[in-house]
Amino acid sequence: MLGDAPDRSWERHGRAQAYYGVLSSDKFRTENLNDALLAEFMRSGSGHLDEVLSFIEGYFGPVARNRALDFGCGVGRVLLPMTQKFAHSTGIDISDSMRAEAQRNADGAGLGNIVLARRLEDAEFNFDFIHSVMVFQHIPVARGEEIISGLLKRLAPGGVAALHINLRTHQSWWRRLGSVLRKRISPLNVLANLVNRRPWNEPMMQMNEYMLDRIYELIAGMGFTCILLQPCDDPKASQVFVFVRKD
Ligand SMILES: C[S@@+](CC[C@H](N)C(=O)[O-])C[C@H]1O[C@@H](n2cnc3c(N)ncnc32)[C@H](O)[C@@H]1O
Repeated sequence: MLGDAPDRSWERHGRAQAYYGVLSSDKFRTENLNDALLAEFMRSGSGHLDEVLSFIEGYFGPVARNRALDFGCGVGRVLLPMTQKFAHSTGIDISDSMRAEAQRNADGAGLGNIVLARRLEDAEFNFDFIHSVMVFQHIPVARGEEIISGLLKRLAPGGVAALHINLRTHQSWWRRLGSVLRKRISPLNVLANLVNRRPWNEPMMQMNEYMLDRIYELIAGMGFTCILLQPCDDPKASQVFVFVRKD
């Protein structure tokens, strides 16, 4: 196949550069990592989770602290702090290597109340809190919309979903064209890597844009009446957190 296969690309990210695959700053490349950087990386996840939960609870009231799900959990940056706040936490990630690293991190921190699975269908429960950050943007839109609908079906009564969605990536027309071409003809990614001074064989990280009206229709069409949007500050993109509460 000539086009980018995102699941395979994520497995390659997970195997070679798991932390950089999550937060794409050169300091988190495997060869640069040390204990201080790993602690900084993990702190960013717990800070994020605190902010999201306090925002949600400010509007919706307390969220039950029984079962939580982190969709696209990577190496456990948000999933691990989740275990401090919820009785049971589940992480879903398509990449076996990302999940293996999340499990190593959980074991290293002595955390037992954690389940890791490849697909949502493999998770048995409904959840009080469903969270996903920096994931849907990497999933082609049609598939992402299906997953969003699958996630919302797994909300327990009173449960809240917090889904981070990319609406528009701010980039020049030629970069935009380059991304479209690289998605369709993946060998072009080698060229983009060389131009951007990245390792030539670094897999592509797709950036996809969702339409807010379609997301709204999907959610409202499932009968949800409590939907809240929070803009996310990012100079490179227009992104929102969509919060949905199940009555
Ligand atoms: C940029 S990382 C973010 C990781 C984590 N959410 C965080 O913020 O620390 C994106 C993650 O989404 C995962 N992912 C991509 N497509 C996925 C899919 N279809 N299903 C589940 N996970 C997926 C990748 O393997 C990767 O670990």
